[in-house]
Amino acid sequence: MDDWRTYDSVAELYGRVHAPRFAEAAQDLVRALEVAEGDRVLDVGTGTGVGVEAATNVAATAVGVDRSLAMLAVGHRDHPSLPLLAAQVVDLPFRDRTFDVVMGNFVLAHFVKVETALFDVRRVLRPDGRVGFTSWADGKDAFQDAWLELVENVVPRDMLAPAYAAAAPGHERLKHPEAIMETLRQAGFRRVRAERRRYQWTYPRDELVEGLGTWTVGRFVRKMLGESGWASLMERTRAVFADRFPDPLNDFRDVIVAVGALPG
Ligand SMILES: C[S@@+](CC[C@H](N)C(=O)[O-])C[C@H]1O[C@@H](n2cnc3c(N)ncnc32)[C@H](O)[C@@H]1O
Repeated sequence: MDDWRTYDSVAELYGRVHAPRFAEAAQDLVRALEVAEGDRVLDVGTGTGVGVEAATNVAATAVGVDRSLAMLAVGHRDHPSLPLLAAQVVDLPFRDRTFDVVMGNFVLAHFVKVETALFDVRRVLRPDGRVGFTSWADGKDAFQDAWLELVENVVPRDMLAPAYAAAAPGHERLKHPEAIMETLRQAGFRRVRAERRRYQWTYPRDELVEGLGTWTVGRFVRKMLGESGWASLMERTRAVFADRFPDPLNDFRDVIVAVGALPG
């Protein structure tokens, strides 16, 4: 079975449910980075390629890298013209000073050693090059509360923190704009700024429930419970959500958009 910490087993679902919505944040990141025609852009943790698409739409020359072949395969299928490559941050297969911009949409918290990852990002950026990341902000909503309540009936709560530590080590710390700004400054970036943005994404109710399986908690719990236990949890979750929430439902999510630049 796939390593639950990766997105390999959920790539199809992620590409169908989340990628079209999270593309909006990638477009905002491209705007915050002032990506312009002719810029050479690297999108790290590109997944199915939403950041590459956003940069290409403003006539930049963009390439995306991801460590999940399954995510890249969905990206290739859905956007055959986008250049998406298998590579890890930290081991970017590019020469020093190749890019004008490096961006990452919802990836920063996944880096096992964020300082080392940013060192590699720095290496491939030209002097004065820009860097930008989006990251989930703190704050839970009624949907997440309901989901965690259901999860905690089947998996002890104290198992969830180690699961985050394994799959998204920056999850707790990088929920705060100050922490992201400090991390970027310590990595040598200047002119660092961050802002919170609220997104409203509308989901058919059962689709939002299905999409819960893509997150760290979902992937971990599925691995713990096995397929039949997971199917029962999904069935209960659909029933609880049908009881509590309308269909379709609006998910309001706060996101941090942070940018900085290398010294010239
Ligand atoms: C939440 S998904 C975001 C995907 C895409 N950026 C989007 O906005 O839809 C995080 C992605 O980062 C990738 N990833 C995590 N750590 C990585 C690393 N060190 N190097 C390359 N990709 C990484 C994962 O495989 C996954 O596809």
